[in-house]
Amino acid sequence: MDIKEVTVVGAGLMGHGIAEVVALAGLKVNLEDAFPEALEKARASIRNSLSRMVKSGKLTQEQADKVFAGMNFTTDLKGAVSSSDMIIEAVPEIPDLKVKLLREVSQNCRQDAIIASNTSNIRISTLAQEVSNPQRLLGLHFFNPPVVLKLVEVIKSDKTSDEVFEETYQFSKKIGKTPIKVLKDTPGFVVNRINAPESLLFCQILDKGLARPEEVDAFGKSQGLPMGPYELMDYVGIDTVVHSLNYYRDALDKEYGKCSYFNQFMDRKELGLKSGKGFYVWENGKALIPKASPSTVIDLMDVLSVEINESAKIIEEGIAKPADIEIGVKLGMNRPFGPISVAEGLTNAEIKRKLQKLSEKFDTKIFYPTKSIEEGKLRELLSGKVAREKDAPASEKAREVGTAQGSEGEPVSLRKDVENKVAYLILSNTRNNLINSDVLEGIERHLKALWNDKEINVIVLRGEGKNFSAGAQLTQFFSGPMDFAENARLGERTFRLLSEVPKITIAEMKGHVLGGGFELSTWCDIRVSTPDAIIGFPEVTLGLVPGWGGSQRLAKLLGMSRAAYLILTGERFDGKFAHEVGLVSKLFPAESIELETDRLAQDLAVRIAPVSAAMAKKLIYKGSEVSADNGLEMESIAMGLLYGTEDLKEGISAFLQKRKPDYKGR
Ligand SMILES: NC(=O)c1ccc[n+]([C@@H]2O[C@H](COP(=O)([O-])OP(=O)(O)OC[C@H]3O[C@@H](n4cnc5c(N)ncnc54)[C@H](O)[C@@H]3O)[C@@H](O)[C@H]2O)c1
Repeated sequence: MDIKEVTVVGAGLMGHGIAEVVALAGLKVNLEDAFPEALEKARASIRNSLSRMVKSGKLTQEQADKVFAGMNFTTDLKGAVSSSDMIIEAVPEIPDLKVKLLREVSQNCRQDAIIASNTSNIRISTLAQEVSNPQRLLGLHFFNPPVVLKLVEVIKSDKTSDEVFEETYQFSKKIGKTPIKVLKDTPGFVVNRINAPESLLFCQILDKGLARPEEVDAFGKSQGLPMGPYELMDYVGIDTVVHSLNYYRDALDKEYGKCSYFNQFMDRKELGLKSGKGFYVWENGKALIPKASPSTVIDLMDVLSVEINESAKIIEEGIAKPADIEIGVKLGMNRPFGPISVAEGLTNAEIKRKLQKLSEKFDTKIFYPTKSIEEGKLRELLSGKVAREKDAPASEKAREVGTAQGSEGEPVSLRKDVENKVAYLILSNTRNNLINSDVLEGIERHLKALWNDKEINVIVLRGEGKNFSAGAQLTQFFSGPMDFAENARLGERTFRLLSEVPKITIAEMKGHVLGGGFELSTWCDIRVSTPDAIIGFPEVTLGLVPGWGGSQRLAKLLGMSRAAYLILTGERFDGKFAHEVGLVSKLFPAESIELETDRLAQDLAVRIAPVSAAMAKKLIYKGSEVSADNGLEMESIAMGLLYGTEDLKEGISAFLQKRKPDYKGR
């Protein structure tokens, strides 16, 4: 259906804004309200908003006049809905009022019209109780202010038809919004539901007398938030928060009712900005917040873990997909990153520990790690490899679970080809093999396991999929400069192991080999690449420097002049150039690079004496750090040590007998 005429019912804060958005998209709009004074206020607000757009050059006066002329303000509900293609309800968040109004709308609109509710929390199935055509009813949740915020949640109830859901999704795009799909109508949908346990946590902090609002807000601001949590609750209205918590108590989990601290503000009618006083006194639209030292009762990780836990529940319950949750929180809460990218940068164990402690401290089950976190499967859940409840047919579920078990969900896996004496460390973290603390931990663990393994002589680092690694996971969460510095140290320590492990290491470069991914390759003994691999250090373009040894390693490999140019310009170059300047030893065609690398690794694994490889690595890397005199001394000592080895005897006998050597590494 081509939606051309829309009626918005309820001309309050949200309704007038939604009507303006739809009119700005060039559609005919009826704005209906039961109260003429509400319509007058809406008319003036829309006029003001359009004038501001003319002043800022977003619209011409002519366009603004045309938008306004396309709007019909009315108190006649029946007349307003009778010919509309879509009706959007935005009356107060009172279930009985909405149920009654939606029944009336459904009785007076066209039978093929779409009916949408802008409810913030109430399940669509609850609102559908009395409408005559529930398959045409769904949720369309705008965010405040609708003219500014891009996000809308499109919410499907168990009765909404697929066709209505899809049409409304496309309509949201047409009016310039970024829709996310809410596949089941849980209370609070996605964004507000993720917020719900946080509201409970902040209520409990006051209930238990653990900190004062200004102390927690000082902490929030020290972490870069534009408003602390209590200032924000004052801003949106404490009554809104309390009503939501009560609704979640009745519809989601009775634990949402366990904190009573906010109720006293309701009794005193201290609702925040709108009443001039809440947690703080408000003057001229600003909260007068007493000076306070940042509280240590919670840290940012606590809050983020609670959000990640609720997001995981939403995915487990089949309510929304990870990508939509990420977009929802970013756009709906105006944040640079959402819970999914934060979770990708943390380990399952870290999140689980945090949640267990919070749950214990506040004696609240809502904070307890959900099933996938409890079972260590958060990563698979986020990547879609864990079967979700009622989300896929049985056969599909089995396949998904099988994949997860096959790869064990590890961001770095170890494959040993004992017959050929080659081991493979395979990066498989996210689509681009981004490197985070889990990846570093995996590399370290596997290298240590291979250290004295006599069955393996060569280690290949390979990226799963098209890329070697596109770099560090920039959304990984760090609590401060020391934490960030320690992460750099961890990377340096881990990568350095590649130059110290007594085996030959080969980096197989393909696709993106950027930042931390490029650094990883510089610590290997040999680099092979496809001609079209995209290589570079973009760090300086992001306000960073190569922090996992790249600034030091590249200068050693290419000399200061070339290293300075490549690091300071952040310029990308290809595998062909890397080969020309000697950074890469061999170029292999993209279609056969794995095969060629396997051949090279297998050849070195049997042809090169392992004791010689181990000694030569030390001489090259350690010997280059000392004076030439000492380096040469190290070399002669190495020769002395090798003299007594079985490998030397075997190497010479095989040469004389014209056969392949069979080295034992001793
Ligand atoms: N305020 C927000 O930040 C926000 C954000 C997203 C969604 N919402 C949701 O949007 C809806 C509206 O919220 P709001 O903040 O705009 O409320 P509001 O109180 O500002 O506006 C509600 C309007 O509905 C009108 N109204 C009441 N009964 C009516 C009836 N029977 N028929 C026609 N009009 C009627 C009122 O006169 C008022 O103008 C609620 O469901 C709310 O949860 C609000």
